[in-house]
Amino acid sequence: MEKSFVKVPKMGPVIAIDGPAGTGKSTATRRLADQLGFVHVDTGALYRAIGFLVLEKERPEVDLVASAVDVARSVHLEFQRSPEKNPANRIFANGRDLTDLIRTPQVTMTASRVSSIPEVRAALLGLQRRLGCQGRAILEGRDIGTVVFPDADVKFFLNASVDERAKRRLIELEAAGSDAPSFEEVKAQIVERDRGDSTRAVAPLRKAQDAIELDTSQLTLDQVVATMEKMIVERL
Ligand code: DC
Repeated sequence: MEKSFVKVPKMGPVIAIDGPAGTGKSTATRRLADQLGFVHVDTGALYRAIGFLVLEKERPEVDLVASAVDVARSVHLEFQRSPEKNPANRIFANGRDLTDLIRTPQVTMTASRVSSIPEVRAALLGLQRRLGCQGRAILEGRDIGTVVFPDADVKFFLNASVDERAKRRLIELEAAGSDAPSFEEVKAQIVERDRGDSTRAVAPLRKAQDAIELDTSQLTLDQVVATMEKMIVERL
């Protein structure tokens, strides 16, 4: 068990899925949640929402830290299901639907920066725990198994080679119709984001001791989901 162990009373099973971007984590989590009838909590969307709101401020570069802390402490964030929209799990900030606005490269980089600020992480911790404590929840992020739910019932740490992750990201960008950058640019961004996420002082990206590690480089998404589902069912 991790040193930072905190007993969080849960109303039902909690599954923690951590790992860097591009490992198939989000899609696998969404599918597992649907198949198992669990609530899907995309904690990255919370950091992205803060990043987006900071960028909307007049001169975000002047004091990014103060601005991010201010936003994180005052904003009301919530998820809502919307069966007629894709993705169905929508994120709202003070009642405003940000779902389609938080996936741009600029928000991605700003989310990574704001996620290294301890006060921002602290402000989002209670919300993540409340969402998970309702039970039958799968939370995906970077520190779910280590910090948010050290006592999660099943923990996974997904990984994949940088080349494979860059390839997947490029396909996603092309499918989204955006002006796709080169493979080398995408790869450099991934390396930079990994470095930021794994070297920050608070809650860095790392595998919990008791997490199941899964390298998805050579696996299809169907294989990833099937492997994880089998392990979850065996353990719950
Ligand atoms: O999973 P994602 O790419 O949407 O996450 C956006 C950023 O938020 C990413 O740089 C890492 C950070 N993050 C985090 O620090 N802790 C989490 N639990 C989830 C995301």
